[in-house]
Amino acid sequence: MNEKRVIGEKAAEFVKDGMIVGLGTGSTVFYTIAKLGQLLRDGLSLKGVATSVQTEKLARQWGIPLVGYSSEIDEIDVAIDGADEVDSEWNLIKGGGGALVREKMIAKTAKAFIVIADSSKFVGKLGNFPLPVEVVPFGYEMTRKHLAGFGCEPKLREIYDTPFKTDNGNYIFDCSFPEILEPAALERDLNLIPGVVDNGLFVKMVDTIITLDSNRNIIITR
Ligand code: A5P
Repeated sequence: MNEKRVIGEKAAEFVKDGMIVGLGTGSTVFYTIAKLGQLLRDGLSLKGVATSVQTEKLARQWGIPLVGYSSEIDEIDVAIDGADEVDSEWNLIKGGGGALVREKMIAKTAKAFIVIADSSKFVGKLGNFPLPVEVVPFGYEMTRKHLAGFGCEPKLREIYDTPFKTDNGNYIFDCSFPEILEPAALERDLNLIPGVVDNGLFVKMVDTIITLDSNRNIIITR
């Protein structure tokens, strides 16, 4: 059974006619987008707001009309996205795909934020997954020192030996913490470092989680 597919497609059921939908990034929401494309062909009307260039391309392939994250829209009805880690209080680490800034902006604007997370994503405490932090390229080595001051090991994300660039033209440090004990404080404090754009902690933002239990039944918790 493809867990990501089952929960990804389930999330599409939350999209009602006429909605503006925040479309997340990653291999789980891939299935939501594909399902929405099919529903659209069957007559559902919707508009998407993409959280990344990758998602923008995918949505276009499925014929999903897109609107910009701009004055074109007043609100987003629902945002649907995956996660890299989910703790027992539904705080998240996101940004494994490098789209955390736009993902957070769009999720914060949405009236409801639905997270689709397969069973491998659930942890007692966040921090097994290195926390992605997006930084401006200017002075990034100084920014690394500031990040390390928080007790983590920041590793510059690279592709073929060159820094990975986000859709915003920035770099990402993947920061390994021994354990993240206070996600809210860490989210706030990391963002106070000059040069940091945002980090992948999503604290108290989730409205609904869709996952599977050990018997592979779909669980929807609000
Ligand atoms: C993208 O930047 C991430 O935040 C993804 O949403 C997250 O990595 C989940 O991805 P998967 O659905 O591919 O596991």
